[in-house]
Amino acid sequence: MRDTTPLVTEEKNNQHTIRVTNVYKSFGPKSVLNGVNFIIQEGEVTAFLGHNGAGKTTLLRIILGLVDIENGEVSVFGENPFLSGERIRKVCGVLCEDTGLYESLTVYDNLKFFAEIYGCSKKEYEEQIDILLKRFDILETKHQIIKNFSMGMKKKVAIIRTILHNPKIVLMDEPVNSLDPVSILTLHDIIKERKEKYNTTFLITTHNLEEVKKICDKIVIMKKGKNVVEQSLSLDSYLKTNIELLGDIETESVKTIMDQHHLTYTLNDHQLITPETDKQVISEIIRELVYHKISICGVSKEQFDLNKLYLETEEAENE
Ligand SMILES: Nc1ncnc2c1ncn2[C@@H]1O[C@H](COP(=O)(O)OP(=O)(O)O)[C@@H](O)[C@H]1O
Ligand SMILES: [Mg+2]
Repeated sequence: MRDTTPLVTEEKNNQHTIRVTNVYKSFGPKSVLNGVNFIIQEGEVTAFLGHNGAGKTTLLRIILGLVDIENGEVSVFGENPFLSGERIRKVCGVLCEDTGLYESLTVYDNLKFFAEIYGCSKKEYEEQIDILLKRFDILETKHQIIKNFSMGMKKKVAIIRTILHNPKIVLMDEPVNSLDPVSILTLHDIIKERKEKYNTTFLITTHNLEEVKKICDKIVIMKKGKNVVEQSLSLDSYLKTNIELLGDIETESVKTIMDQHHLTYTLNDHQLITPETDKQVISEIIRELVYHKISICGVSKEQFDLNKLYLETEEAENE
């Protein structure tokens, strides 16, 4: 019997949208995920980065309940996708690497078919289909059969299919591959609008770091089946503060000050470097250093650099 209880209820709304805890997955002897952990809040746009084979697609399939796991826990709106997969998939929009369209049907018939599966009313989908086809500049293809379309055209139709039913969560596996630059901008605008208007949660796997900088709130970098970095991309996300010191340095005094604030730090060649970036805390540290007669000749914050972080992560020896 079909379970008709709504997946997203008011009391569940304050939970994390997706929680992945210590997930392990192998295909036969090949271990693909080796302890993945992350939390995604409602309305976040998260990019999954990582080299080919890092486990990104497998993770998306696990979140949808399409692949089971050996160890760990996954919850989507507080539910287990392996038990409630059908209900979870109802509130998701999914764009796979393979477009999943029916080649012998027209654009309109493909979109209508999927909209009806997701329970959209005719009035809703008729209007939305035209709006979205127009936005991707393919309205004139509405009644054409998909078979002979270019890959980019198929991708546009598949993107429209993914968002047509206004899903709560959208999972997109490498969405911009084979899209032209104008369509990429259209997709980015749609993602930003849906996040603002409907608090839609987006999970996107991509290799395009410029895209990530433009539209994502957060990145998760996957490496050999582990999430090795989870980092917010908010505009004021600095990585660390460098305080340049002058003259003789009383290292014991520095230690006392930093310990009082429970801060980790390195001190080398007159550079005091700490991961702390809070303005208030930094101003207190400066005051205390001066009080201990340690001269300061400069303070700088290191801005988050996605390209650098990604390359450093990929180059780093595996733990
Ligand atoms: N159904 C499957 N059977 C066997 N191996 C698989 C299967 N799906 C994925 N893999 C393997 O798991 C690893 C991770 O794949 P995938 O999740 O697609 O990585 P990514 O999307 O990051 O490129 C790859 O080595 C891939 O060959
Ligand atoms: Mg993949």
